[in-house]
Amino acid sequence: MPDLTPTDAQLTALMQAAGAAQTRAYAPYSRFRVGAAVLDDRGLIHAGCNVENAAYPQGVCAEAGAFSAMVLAGSRRVQALLVVGDGAALVTPCGGCRQKLREFAAPDTPVLIADAGGVRARFTLAQLLPESFGPENLQP
Ligand code: THU
Repeated sequence: MPDLTPTDAQLTALMQAAGAAQTRAYAPYSRFRVGAAVLDDRGLIHAGCNVENAAYPQGVCAEAGAFSAMVLAGSRRVQALLVVGDGAALVTPCGGCRQKLREFAAPDTPVLIADAGGVRARFTLAQLLPESFGPENLQP
């Protein structure tokens, strides 16, 4: 199995991209800004920020934006995901975003949780979404 651990340079690039995305967040309702960055299997980085909506459920998480940017750029594989947010608690992806990640990632794909000071915790997708349902389930 390939080693999916990002290199130090990739980690720096992920932090930079997610941090920049966080500053662009549109979060007038929660005031909770989130940035996300994915490293794809070509070594490219794609970022997203949360975009809220006056009709609250229509808001979009930062991770969803990053996955959309990755697909738009022509990639279908996440090698690592980094999420940056503020506050005492870890800003781990919501349940919906864990499932969205599942579409494009392997069980051992790293999910790095950061704040402005750097990475605070590391998980794998399987830790965050055990016994998950994915594209293979739809194979006959
Ligand atoms: N949010 C994200 O964008 N990603 C996460 O991982 C957690 C939560 C957003 C959704 C909403 O705009 C705000 O943070 C507060 O929940």
